[in-house]
Amino acid sequence: MKKAPQSIAILASGTGTNADAICSHFAGHSLGKVVLIVTNNPEAGVLNVARRHGVQTAVVPNADIAAQLVSTLQEHGVEWVILAGFLRKIPENVLEAFPNRIINIHPALLPDFGGKGMYGSHVHEAVIQAGKTESGITIHRVNAHYDKGEILFQARCPVMAGDTPQSLAARIHTLEHQHYPQVIEEQLHTYLSPHATL
Ligand code: GRF
Repeated sequence: MKKAPQSIAILASGTGTNADAICSHFAGHSLGKVVLIVTNNPEAGVLNVARRHGVQTAVVPNADIAAQLVSTLQEHGVEWVILAGFLRKIPENVLEAFPNRIINIHPALLPDFGGKGMYGSHVHEAVIQAGKTESGITIHRVNAHYDKGEILFQARCPVMAGDTPQSLAARIHTLEHQHYPQVIEEQLHTYLSPHATL
């Protein structure tokens, strides 16, 4: 019997280029379907991404995340929660409702340059300031500690002499779009496997 695609929600606060890449990857896919995009920012560009892909949206203000996020996700039958630039900590009740099924992408090589306040251009500034010659992306499960969950995948890119946070961010974004949808797909496969031990 053919299984229905697993339902994915994307949580994002900003432009949503990763959300765009994920929606494109899973359009018409047999394993997964993006059923909802949630943002805490009513002005976020990711809402336009959702409109373009015909994906439903929910705006959950910061003050309501703990009270509303789980029910919003459950109402849409969500099985996987994918963070793509969501700038709020995921509350305990959401972690409990989706054990091992919340994934995040971080624009550096964790465990370095992670933790509270390390997001967006802050990360790239810190990498350049530290004189690193290499940076990259980390895709990891989300737990109760910022950027500390199990690492699922990393990819590297050079930091060039003269890089600005913007030029480094552009290189990192290319890596993110290339790998994030694929790593999510691998996770969906793992869940389908009879030997899966999530
Ligand atoms: C990405 O760089 C991601 O690593 C970080 O937030 C950024 C989101 O970018 N968590 P976008 O909105 O997907 O373009």
